[in-house]
Amino acid sequence: MIELKHVSKSYTAGVDALKDINLTINDGEIFGIIGQSGAGKSTLIRCINMLERPTSGEVIINGKDMTKLSTSELRAERRHIGMIFQHFNLLSSRTVYENIAFPLELYGTPKEEQKKKITDILELVGLTEYKDKYPSQLSGGQKQRVGIARAIVSDPDILLSDEATSALDPETVKSILNLLKDINRKLHITIIMITHQMEVIKSIADRVAIIEHGHIIEQSSVLDLFTSPKTETARNFIGSVSSNTLPEGLKNYHIHDERENADDHIMMRLSFRGDVANEPIIAKLARDYNLEVSILYGTVDFIQGVSFGKLIIDVSGSDSNITAAFNHLHSLPIESEVLGYVSGNI
Ligand SMILES: Nc1ncnc2c1ncn2[C@@H]1O[C@H](COP(=O)(O)OP(=O)(O)OP(=O)(O)O)[C@@H](O)[C@H]1O
Ligand SMILES: [Mg+2]
Repeated sequence: MIELKHVSKSYTAGVDALKDINLTINDGEIFGIIGQSGAGKSTLIRCINMLERPTSGEVIINGKDMTKLSTSELRAERRHIGMIFQHFNLLSSRTVYENIAFPLELYGTPKEEQKKKITDILELVGLTEYKDKYPSQLSGGQKQRVGIARAIVSDPDILLSDEATSALDPETVKSILNLLKDINRKLHITIIMITHQMEVIKSIADRVAIIEHGHIIEQSSVLDLFTSPKTETARNFIGSVSSNTLPEGLKNYHIHDERENADDHIMMRLSFRGDVANEPIIAKLARDYNLEVSILYGTVDFIQGVSFGKLIIDVSGSDSNITAAFNHLHSLPIESEVLGYVSGNI
């Protein structure tokens, strides 16, 4: 388990990059940390392996406070923490094999054992045939596979990833994310992913924290984040992968914020997850509350294998029936939001 308690980091230039960060990351989890450029993501991840020292607070990994270790104790602990980077940081004068061997050489692993480990890892990352190539002869995705191999060859418990997919094209991003997921499952390595791309969080993270101006402003399971985001920043990040704005076709309706006439229709958005997606919510609203309900727009998405859907519906009926229906909706695990009111027939 990794626990950050009241971690703050100020750089000498007077920049408060992290302010009172509190996070718990469980063993075997893929934990995402998302934020805009300059939010403090790299500083945060570097404070986990003490590449940066927090100005105050504790970083407790498997019961040990990293900030209190001596240099030699820290060196020993770092063996359990691998790291991968946006620009791969490979040694250009070494082959793929020699790059992966690098940490093992530092730890004085016997040559025979090195060979066995590297052969296995090359197989795992799909680079067996490339072992004698140099970094300049590889694609971006292949370079990152070398980076990953080097990070996990010494059997770490934790893998830190600082924007490891940011320099790659979308297809390669997918294959690298699949590889990381594979490593997480097969080798039970806890992965902390720093990114500014919601797509990355959505495809592989279990839980996520949003960092803004050095603060964690929101933290939840990825599914909860998508179905009930609490901050504007979260909604904006989600909007980048699953549109939250009105679909084009609906923009022609004159939607107003206030109810102008008694017979105005209500346009609302419902967000719900797989476990309620099978229930006949719409039919129930129409039948039990005597409302006219039409579905104007709908999407279904998958996160962590759970389906989650969004519907935009138009509702009309008597005030008391609408109030009763809304009360019913609020009792369900569904997010509902009134988008506005529409006069006349829709
Ligand atoms: N070595 C440093 N000395 C002084 N200020 C720094 C240093 N490193 C980072 N900062 C500042 O700390 C803040 C957080 O930087 P950090 O690199 O952690 O952000 P980030 O979220 O990783 O951004 P990006 O997405 O651009 O990589 C920024 O204001 C940055 O300018
Ligand atoms: Mg960064």
